[in-house]
Amino acid sequence: MNFPVSKFRTLQTPFYYYDRRLLESTLDTINREAACYPHFHVHYAVKANVDPTLLSIVQQSGLGCDCVSGWEIEACLNAGFNPAKIVYAGVGKSDWEIKLALEKDIACFNVESVPELEVIDQLAGEMGRKARVALRVNPNVDAHTHKYITTGLSENKFGIAMELLPEVIDRIKTLANVELTGLHFHIGSQLLELDPFTMLCDRINKLQDEVETRGIRLKTINVGGGLGCDYETPDDNPIPDFADFFANYAAHLKLRAGQELHFELGRSVVCQCGSLISRILYIKEGVNKKFMILDAGMSDLIRPALYQAHHKIEVLTSTSAELSRYDVVGPICESSDCFGENELLPIASRGDLVALRSAGAYGQIMASNYNCRPIPPSVW
Ligand code: LLP
Repeated sequence: MNFPVSKFRTLQTPFYYYDRRLLESTLDTINREAACYPHFHVHYAVKANVDPTLLSIVQQSGLGCDCVSGWEIEACLNAGFNPAKIVYAGVGKSDWEIKLALEKDIACFNVESVPELEVIDQLAGEMGRKARVALRVNPNVDAHTHKYITTGLSENKFGIAMELLPEVIDRIKTLANVELTGLHFHIGSQLLELDPFTMLCDRINKLQDEVETRGIRLKTINVGGGLGCDYETPDDNPIPDFADFFANYAAHLKLRAGQELHFELGRSVVCQCGSLISRILYIKEGVNKKFMILDAGMSDLIRPALYQAHHKIEVLTSTSAELSRYDVVGPICESSDCFGENELLPIASRGDLVALRSAGAYGQIMASNYNCRPIPPSVW
């Protein structure tokens, strides 16, 4: 990626830098590839990044959105998303959030439990509404990704167990203010192979057969997100392979006539367009190692500390052709505040600019005020 380094030199660090052109070409690719299958509909999983400029670019591209809180619904409405393109998931929806979603008449609630179903039915009744719901089913498929971002195993808190689906469907039939429109799934995030998605398709095919024996025709199947990104060589793969991802679903999922297939893609839409830009504060000599101490830390990008994730580190301003080994760390008072150990980087010094790549998804949005530090601003 060609960073506007001379502009960066004039700015206070750390900040998130977003490349509008890459975001737009990613969105164009998604739209082009999804259009090969007229019944495919893509929602952007807003949890990955709600920068207002980013949201409005996504909105203009025509994608729908997938929210997991009332605040996200508000952010999407402010960005101009049509409520008819908003879906709303989450294991713990508060009453005010459910009421907001009902009032705005969003497309669908992705419901994760019977008690939630009952509360939605009650609140919808009080408001004189009928809620469209999809049942989130836990398909017990191993996504082979980090434990903290695996969601589709029966040990996870998400969704309704497959075994319980028939009785939940029977329960829905007794509720006057909810209408069952679909089934929803999401097995995990940062999946680099398609096999788990194929297994998910097999599960869904079986479940659809079962559901039909109970006299239910579903309007939508929603398979969530999960498509991974190349964190190690982002410039080789700036746009994930959406063609393959969609083709795999088209090949393995047996959709019924007229049925829509929905996706909720987060990371794959916005990951590569964002980088966290930071300055080197100090190069400190340790025992048998050198620390590159940045002015960005785990409060700005928590993924390495939380998921042992690795973001490619690039020194943007060093002119040295010589390389050296560094532990790249932040200023926060925790040993987990480390972006990389033994990184082989050009020899750098105080004041050099450093980019932490592939930080557009789950970067800025997961930043915190730990150590009273401000949330890094966005630069487009
Ligand atoms: N749909 C549902 C119901 C989800 O829970 C998620 C992500 C998505 C869609 C979008 O998944 P994606 O396409 O982004 O994989 N903070 C973690 C990732 C957490 C993902 C949570 N759910 C990280 O930084 O890796």
